[in-house]
Amino acid sequence: MTTPTPLVAGNWKMNGLSSSLAELEALETFVKEQAEASCELLICPPFTLVAAMAVKAGGSVKIGAQDCHFNKSGAHTGDISAEMLKDIGAEYIIVGHSERRADHEETSDTVNAKAAAIHGEGLSAIVCVGETEEERDAGQTETVVLGQLLVSVPDSATPTNTVIAYEPVWAIGTGKTPTVADVAEIHTAIRGALVERFGEAGKEFRILYGGSVKPSNADELMAADNVNGALVGGASLKASDFNGIIDAYRS
Ligand code: 13P
Repeated sequence: MTTPTPLVAGNWKMNGLSSSLAELEALETFVKEQAEASCELLICPPFTLVAAMAVKAGGSVKIGAQDCHFNKSGAHTGDISAEMLKDIGAEYIIVGHSERRADHEETSDTVNAKAAAIHGEGLSAIVCVGETEEERDAGQTETVVLGQLLVSVPDSATPTNTVIAYEPVWAIGTGKTPTVADVAEIHTAIRGALVERFGEAGKEFRILYGGSVKPSNADELMAADNVNGALVGGASLKASDFNGIIDAYRS
């Protein structure tokens, strides 16, 4: 078994204009001038910036997208396919983010179809799972998260084409985070479910933590058992903050 290379990914959500390309440039300068980080770096800007950022990215930062349709093409006004995103240089696509599940009523079955479409293009899917505050208070965290995982991850998943992101809904954009012990517990449960389904390969999937990750808490969250990187929202918008998180992977 090889230990997976961690992934630190920024999800810009519905933020960023063409002027934001400067943040990519600034990040690449940080990466070049500071100690090399032992992780892969990714930014997922809104669709409108994917092409320009993929052209601008100098190699140290990969570019991805935040969603796609599960069909390759067709009569789906306003939608974007994985093939289109591949065509403009995206390497990863986030699917099943809780904001898409909530705002667009996406089910785990839809997420599964999207992830399978991403695999069909030879790209990597970042499949998000996570419980709401009510579910956590009701002691249902593991049931909800493993239930979403089982349905959302397609059979075509491998450690190379799929990354899991555990993002407790109540921790997103709130400044609240679970304890390190709680993160380790649910990540270890996710690992167990992956091994049960995919055998030895289950040990090699990367499992990211997301939800209010910032430079001041990245070290301890990234050191938790079975945490193989971060999916970062707000703190990925400014290169200096994002770089502070990447420090968790610099010695
Ligand atoms: P924040 O880092 O802003 O809490 O967002 C996390 C997230 O939703 C990343 O996908």
